[in-house]
Amino acid sequence: MVKRVKSYISGLDKMLNGGFPENSVVIINGGPGTGKTIICTQIAYYNALNGNKVVLFDLEQNREKIIEQMKQFKWSFEKVKRNMEIITIEDVEKEKGNYLEYLLEKINKTKYDIIVIDSLDSIITYLLKEEDIKKIGIEKIKDIVVPAIIDAEHVERMKIKHIFEMLTKSKATSLITSEKVDGEIGNTRDKISEFLCDGMITLNRNSISGGLTRTIEVVKMRRTNIDSSVHSFDFKKGGIFVE
Ligand SMILES: Nc1ncnc2c1ncn2[C@@H]1O[C@H](COP(=O)(O)OP(=O)(O)O)[C@@H](O)[C@H]1O
Ligand SMILES: [Mg+2]
Repeated sequence: MVKRVKSYISGLDKMLNGGFPENSVVIINGGPGTGKTIICTQIAYYNALNGNKVVLFDLEQNREKIIEQMKQFKWSFEKVKRNMEIITIEDVEKEKGNYLEYLLEKINKTKYDIIVIDSLDSIITYLLKEEDIKKIGIEKIKDIVVPAIIDAEHVERMKIKHIFEMLTKSKATSLITSEKVDGEIGNTRDKISEFLCDGMITLNRNSISGGLTRTIEVVKMRRTNIDSSVHSFDFKKGGIFVE
């Protein structure tokens, strides 16, 4: 039987037949303002509250903003800080300045149950540096793919593949946000992570006749008999509620 990690959002856990399969890499995608950051924070918070070890890498906001947003839903960081680490760009810059190296070292050293990366797109923007290729090592890169020409796009793809491999190796269950670009083909900005991931959840917002509806859909989840229908969700006092 596949062990499952609960999202602690009951409607979503039902869609997932109990939760995320342990040790999977799951992409949460959707346009801006669809709730990607909040749903990841909620899952991280409730997992930490229930004794799981969680790390949240956030490259887009500072720690104060994250904690303040948590307060809006009455999620007390104080209560979970023993189990929930927040790592922002400030922490990385203080120590090393190389985000990829920092992240990989962190997930290598500590055994986390849940790893959240918000967002993959911002990491990629950070990653396009030649020196990173040297650090991963050209031999390792050849193991990953054999590209005809190593151009920026290839390097980007190799790095994404490397991150995904390291996340899987860490044995944690990972949630990674990625922005869906309107009008572009594909579900993720980099167009490769959607094939590498074990699961994908898509969030949407539609404004119809003055009202706003938000939806959530489990697009894929390996090792899981999913409910693949589109469900609506709402922001309630305690966070996201899936109907
Ligand atoms: N306390 C709240 N109550 C209701 N809705 C909220 C609250 N906080 C945020 N939101 C909604 O969530 C949206 C942002 O969600 P977020 O997770 O940051 O989106 P994304 O990461 O996908 O860009 C806001 O635009 C707002 O509509
Ligand atoms: Mg966000």
